[in-house]
Amino acid sequence: MHKMKGENILVDAIVTSPPYNINKEYGEYKDNKEIDKYLEWLQDVAKASQLILKNDGSFFLNIGCRPAEPLIPFLVVEKFVKVGYVLQNTIHWIKSVSIDPEDIGRNNEFRSNENLSIGHFKPIISERYLSDLHEYVFHFTKTGSVKVDKLRTGVTYQDKSNIGRWKSAIRDKRDRGNVWVISYPTIQESRPHPAVFPAKLPQRCIELHGIKPNMFVYDPFMGIGNTALACIGLKVNYFGTEIDPRYIKVAQEQISRKIETYLRGNEDKSL
Ligand SMILES: C[S@@+](CC[C@H](N)C(=O)[O-])C[C@H]1O[C@@H](n2cnc3c(N)ncnc32)[C@H](O)[C@@H]1O
Repeated sequence: MHKMKGENILVDAIVTSPPYNINKEYGEYKDNKEIDKYLEWLQDVAKASQLILKNDGSFFLNIGCRPAEPLIPFLVVEKFVKVGYVLQNTIHWIKSVSIDPEDIGRNNEFRSNENLSIGHFKPIISERYLSDLHEYVFHFTKTGSVKVDKLRTGVTYQDKSNIGRWKSAIRDKRDRGNVWVISYPTIQESRPHPAVFPAKLPQRCIELHGIKPNMFVYDPFMGIGNTALACIGLKVNYFGTEIDPRYIKVAQEQISRKIETYLRGNEDKSL
């Protein structure tokens, strides 16, 4: 990021998921720092990011934790706030959810006598903790007052009688709120990386920030390039860094495939 600053590169949005310090088996990176060192490290990342983020930019930080250490994401937030960021939105990324029939709603076409379960459920082996089905996406800005494109990521009203009821409800679109249900796409092959997010997550973050002409998005912990895939789909310029050459290779392969599909005019909408 210091190098980028030296070359006068400024970015509109940073969308990233750092290692969570939960002893994940990455290739190069060792995911088991002492907690103080880990927090200091991410504070340095936050500080450096301010050099390259535009004043009206957004930093979307996706972070999860182990149930035994539930406070780590909040300690990271504290570090970001310490270097001057404002926590503008807290988004809950729900990877799997189950809804009882009586909560589905009478007018809903998904009405059923059974519970409705969506997404990839990964059970936890524990007598103490519930299975962990969500992560955070913290939306930081420099001022706390960056206008976002809420309707671009919006949804239609389930109850159409709401249209016209409020000043803001002038058409059949409302903001989606801060609970995002995004499931992992089913992958049959072996996984080349142990901790990825689906490209739809960065896609939604970028769209929420708002698509601007010639905009630039940066992912400092690029992994196998899912933020890049989202950017290609959105026709947005992209920059990423990753410490592990094997993940960079997979990222490059994925990016080439995505660009080929894109150029063939066969855009894959199923990020
Ligand atoms: C949670 S993963 C990100 C995965 C990515 N979101 C994706 O979907 O592929 C974190 C990544 O950070 C990388 N990493 C760790 N330290 C780094 C550093 N100092 N600079 C760049 N990347 C680093 C790890 O190798 C790992 O791939």
